[in-house]
Amino acid sequence: MRHQERRRTVARGGRPEDADQHNNGGSDGRQPAPRKGSCRYPTVTAPSGTPPGRAQTTLFSHTTTETGHRNSKIGAINPPDPMATKKHTVVGVEVLRQSGMDVDDLVKTLIYNASVEFVAYYYFTNLRAFCTGMEGEGIKGVIEDARLEDLSHFESCIDRIYQLGGEFPRDIADFCKQAGADFLQSDKKTTLKQILEKCLKAEQGAIVNWNKVCQMTHGKDPMTYELASHILAEEIEHESWFLELLDGRPSGHMRRRYSGERPHTSKHSRSMDSL
Ligand SMILES: [Fe+2]
Ligand SMILES: [Fe+2]
Repeated sequence: MRHQERRRTVARGGRPEDADQHNNGGSDGRQPAPRKGSCRYPTVTAPSGTPPGRAQTTLFSHTTTETGHRNSKIGAINPPDPMATKKHTVVGVEVLRQSGMDVDDLVKTLIYNASVEFVAYYYFTNLRAFCTGMEGEGIKGVIEDARLEDLSHFESCIDRIYQLGGEFPRDIADFCKQAGADFLQSDKKTTLKQILEKCLKAEQGAIVNWNKVCQMTHGKDPMTYELASHILAEEIEHESWFLELLDGRPSGHMRRRYSGERPHTSKHSRSMDSL
């Protein structure tokens, strides 16, 4: 009889010693000894209202629950994944809604603005390349300063968009198309004056875009307002650079100490620090 019990235990994946301890208690035969490999983790009691079967579980418990599944490798039951069954409230977004912020509209606007910055960075690469000759060399440096700061503006948006629950389009073509910045296209025939006109138009469009975000968020969303106002400050500087070159309009413009300095947005685009 005892031999049969030992065989059944082994067939279930247990060890003969476990069967001995289970049947006979501890080594002295009186106190039930803990089974080898049994759970020593704390018991967690679920909050009231939890469905039956989950009312009480033990971390890495050997007791099967409704949502637990057996980890055959270690013979244990993994606890239910709370992330799979419950979405937490995003307080950082809810407080904005309570302040009257249309968060969905804000996210849409930020993604649009991000696309404009990203595409401008690309097109300014071409515009810079076509600044040739004695006169073009000086303009090239100014466009390079603006180009790298547009990249900073794109980078600056990323964290805030995800914090607000947004996502970028899956297809980069969709992302770039929405920018509507085809007017920035250029080739070898594009004159320096045309290049400057394109740059000015891009900067002025960016001012409108970021001023809109400032107006949307003022008094409602301090984080996005700060971000948008810092980007706006750089866009206004960029506009003045190109107005100076095109119209001779006086400005307090001094060249950046280095391209990519981004004095207002550097803290929002720290990923560029090592570039
Ligand atoms: Fe920009
Ligand atoms: Fe700009």
